[in-house]
Amino acid sequence: MKLAVVGGGSTYTPELIDGFARLRDTLPVTELVLIDPAADRLELVGGLARRIFAKQGHPGTITTTSDLDAGVTGADAVLLQLRVGGQAARRQDETWPLECGCVGQETTGAGGLAKALRTVPVVLDIAGRVRRTSPDAWIIDFTNPVGIVTRALLQAGHKAVGLCNVAIGFQRKFAKLLDVAPAEVHLDHVGLNHLTWELGVRLGGPAGEDLLPRLIAEHGDAIAADLHMPRAVVDRLGVVPSYYLRYFYQHDEVVRELGSKPSRAAEVAAMEKELLALYGDPALDEKPELLAGRGGAFYSEAAVDLASSLLGGGGSGVQVVNTYNNGTLPFLPDDAVIETQARVDASGATPLAVPALDPMYAGLVSHVTAYENLALEAALHGGRERVFKALLAHPLVGQFEYAEALTDKLLAHNREHLAWA
Ligand code: G6P
Ligand code: MN
Repeated sequence: MKLAVVGGGSTYTPELIDGFARLRDTLPVTELVLIDPAADRLELVGGLARRIFAKQGHPGTITTTSDLDAGVTGADAVLLQLRVGGQAARRQDETWPLECGCVGQETTGAGGLAKALRTVPVVLDIAGRVRRTSPDAWIIDFTNPVGIVTRALLQAGHKAVGLCNVAIGFQRKFAKLLDVAPAEVHLDHVGLNHLTWELGVRLGGPAGEDLLPRLIAEHGDAIAADLHMPRAVVDRLGVVPSYYLRYFYQHDEVVRELGSKPSRAAEVAAMEKELLALYGDPALDEKPELLAGRGGAFYSEAAVDLASSLLGGGGSGVQVVNTYNNGTLPFLPDDAVIETQARVDASGATPLAVPALDPMYAGLVSHVTAYENLALEAALHGGRERVFKALLAHPLVGQFEYAEALTDKLLAHNREHLAWA
């Protein structure tokens, strides 16, 4: 089985390699290609990746290349984990929206739109090249904003599934609190990428007993602390929102907070420097502790599970992914991309039925779906007016004056990445 990772020079990659090494019975990778235009990073990351495989006795080969076409040729699955413009562009996304009193974040609000505009054309180009060299390859998209990017891929006819680690994070957390194996925990996880709620936590499968009320009663403080939200939010809702809902439920507080400290991009850039120095040490042969400071916990396990289910291996066959709605949430169009539990096999992902979504959440999901639709239009076709409309439609922007000002700022900060601007 050949896997290719686009953005393989990411400092995150050792997390992925560690998962491939530990879970090789589930996903028997024989050939892994790390692809990245940054040759220096690739060499450091590739070196550590090989040492991790060697230490764990993994028989697969790991190669590195900056040649995308050569790297993806013959792959069974291609993982996309790239970041157009790197942390420098992310830093912008997290900064200029604050000037209008709006949240500055890489996947939500105006910053998330900027990221979508930079990313969609690049991802579609890569996917087209994957299709030419490896027509049957599955594309697994970790590249943010995952909902919009996955929709772009599916709309263009690609065999693609979008993936995020928020759900697997909850699954692991709840399993620990309940003292059961993670595979026993089935989440009623519903919404859009980075806009989800856990409506139920069931033991054994979709028909299992819902233990969420008990979890909230017994562990509400710990759950809320993880979300960086007050316990009252979890108690009053009776469901568990993802931590990305903080940008909505506590928007103004988050804006104040963000304005008073260095950006996450700056923090991550500093961490990356340290990580790369560690990766260059020939004595290091496991993922370093420092990597746990990044947000990507368990993403390797989610990737292994998904790839093995898609490629006919030993995956669980049921997993939270991003895919077409197709009637799952009846108030959304079929071709909206949602994030929910799905059956996954060699034919792709099919969402499982979900409990009805309370209007309190359904309204926001509809609103953000409309924004995502407009954002994708802007990413595909360009133009100032399309950017403006997407911003006006975003629930965290909404006001005419702000949408105008943010459009100008977005364009000013992203011209080098936007072919049409
Ligand atoms: C979580 C999200 C990812 C996001 C990451 C950011 O894992 O699900 O979509 O990319 O956090 O983590 P970072 O360490 O870069 O802030
Ligand atoms: Mn994510």
